[in-house]
Amino acid sequence: MGAKLALAVLVSGRGSNLQALLAAIDRGACDAEVGCVLSDRANAPALTLASERGIATDVIAAKAYGDRADWDRALAERIAASGAQLVVLAGFMRLVGPAVLARFAGRIINVHPALLPAFPGMDAPEQAIRARVCISGCTVHVVDAGVDTGPVLAQAAVPVLPGDDALSLHARIQTTEHTLLPAVVHAIATGAILLDGPHPRYVGEVPELPSSLVSPPLV
Ligand code: GRF
Repeated sequence: MGAKLALAVLVSGRGSNLQALLAAIDRGACDAEVGCVLSDRANAPALTLASERGIATDVIAAKAYGDRADWDRALAERIAASGAQLVVLAGFMRLVGPAVLARFAGRIINVHPALLPAFPGMDAPEQAIRARVCISGCTVHVVDAGVDTGPVLAQAAVPVLPGDDALSLHARIQTTEHTLLPAVVHAIATGAILLDGPHPRYVGEVPELPSSLVSPPLV
């Protein structure tokens, strides 16, 4: 078996998706390794989670830099220094800027708690509740310069149940994210998803994804 896909995971919060990635790696279900965990927030619980596992962490806080462009360049440098082959935004609450996008073009993925293009941006579960939809879900997509607009790699549907509020819906969606994100990372690591070129696509056998999968759209 070749070398594992080197990940830089960017986080701002709790880190349950990071935890799910690490658990999948531990049980041999995700052919990757987390080289570093970077955050814009010093108090992100995800950083503690990473440190406890001996994973390199760093805080690249926007307020420590003169302007957004400086922050963006510093983040790009730090990711590059880690040797990452794939950048995973796992609850990273800021938009990455042009320096990061240029340096890792097509090699940045994000997990979003809605079925994009529905409910992009902040508070996606809250948006779903307000829109009174019956089905929502999660999306793993390639990051481009827009807000949750890049090519979709995989989606999984999650029901909105009577009595749900944004919190309960988000919790249900996150359970599915924890399966979908490691599955997509594994598919990239094994070459089942090709990210090179303008249009990411599945090659060969479509990877096994959660049974609630809406569609592997890139076949
Ligand atoms: C996830 O729901 C993800 O979809 C969104 O931010 C949340 C991060 O949660 N982008 P966690 O920090 O991984 O628990």
